[in-house]
Amino acid sequence: DDSKSGVKGLIDAGLSKIPRIFINDQPIINDTTSSTTQNQYSIPIIDLKETNDRRELIENVRDACVKWGFFQITNHGIPKRVLDEMINGVRGFHEMETVEKIKYYTRDFRKQFLYVSNFHLFTGDSAVWSDSFLSVMAPNRPRSEEIPSICRDTLLEYSDHIMKLGFTLLELFSLALGLEPNHLKNLGCAEGLFLLGHYYPKCPEPELTLGTNCHTDAGFFTIILQDLLGGLQVLHENEWVNVSPLPGALVVNAGDLIQLITNDKFKSVHHRVLAQKGIPRISMAAIFRPFHEGIESKIYRPIRELVTEENPCVYMDTSLKEYTTLRLTKGMDRSALTPFKNS
Ligand code: SIN
Ligand code: FE2
Repeated sequence: DDSKSGVKGLIDAGLSKIPRIFINDQPIINDTTSSTTQNQYSIPIIDLKETNDRRELIENVRDACVKWGFFQITNHGIPKRVLDEMINGVRGFHEMETVEKIKYYTRDFRKQFLYVSNFHLFTGDSAVWSDSFLSVMAPNRPRSEEIPSICRDTLLEYSDHIMKLGFTLLELFSLALGLEPNHLKNLGCAEGLFLLGHYYPKCPEPELTLGTNCHTDAGFFTIILQDLLGGLQVLHENEWVNVSPLPGALVVNAGDLIQLITNDKFKSVHHRVLAQKGIPRISMAAIFRPFHEGIESKIYRPIRELVTEENPCVYMDTSLKEYTTLRLTKGMDRSALTPFKNS
C-alpha cells in the first residue's frame, strides 16, 4: 500500500510532478507569498516573562484572542534545548526507513501513537503535501513502548512542558475573560491533549497544492512549535498573514470549542500551511481537545458569566459528538460551528 510511505515516499521515489489528488482548487485569495511586498499585518507577539506587568499581559492576551485568535509567545518557560530536540525528534521519526515507520501506520484512533498521511481525505478536501504522527498524551499517557524510541524521551519531556504551559495559558485566558483564574481549567479545557508531529516534504510544484488545507482547529486551543522555514498563514481581515518564525517562540491559537464557550468572544480563525520547494519543514502542534472514551456525550455551551443582555447566547447546547460528526462530514474550509448557532 503506497499511502503508507506517505508524501515523503513520493519525493523519495523521485517524483517531479504532483499527482492530481494533491491539486488544490480552492482560490488562493490575496496570496502574500506571490508578491514581493508583505501586507501590513503581523500577528501579536506576547512576552510571558513573569516580572512583566500582569494587567498589561492579560490585556494583550485578551486583545490577541479577540482580534486575531493567533499570537506568538516568548519567555514561555520551555527551554530552547527541549524545543530543538522536539523538532529533531519529529524529523527523526519521519526520516526513519519506511519499514520502521509503517509499523505505526493505522487509522485506528484507539491507538495512542499513529503515523498518518492524509487522514482528512474522506472529508472531500484535496490531499495535502505532508505526513504526520499523532500521539495522545492526556488524559492517558501512552505506555513507553507504544512510542517509537527515536522520539520517545523527547515526546514525553515536551508534553510535560506543554501541559504546564497549557495551564498557564488557561489561567491567562480565564483572567482575560474576567473569570476566576481556574475557571477554564475546571471546565476541562486541558483534560485532553495530543501532539501532531508534521513533516512537510519539499514539493516540486508548491503553487498547486498546500501543506495543510485551510481549517480551524477543533479543540480549545493549540500550541504550535515550528522550525525556521515559515509557511504557516492565518486568515485575518480576509488576507493571508504569514506567521513568521521567531527563534525560541511558540505560536498559540484559539480553537472552535473555546470560541463556543466564550460565546464568540475568542476567535477560532482559519489557517493553512503552504508547500515549498526547498527543504522539508517540521512543526509540532499540541492540541488541547477532549476525545477520550465517554467524553462524546459531554455538552458544551457558552459560559453563563459571558452571556448578557448585550451579548445574548450565540450557541445552542452542543455535544462533542454532534460537533465532531458535522466537522468530519462538512470539510474543513467552513466553520464547523455555524450549524450550532442560535438563529
Ligand atoms: C496545523 O494547523 O496543525 C499546522 C501547523 C503548522 O504546521 O505550523
Ligand atoms: Fe491547525
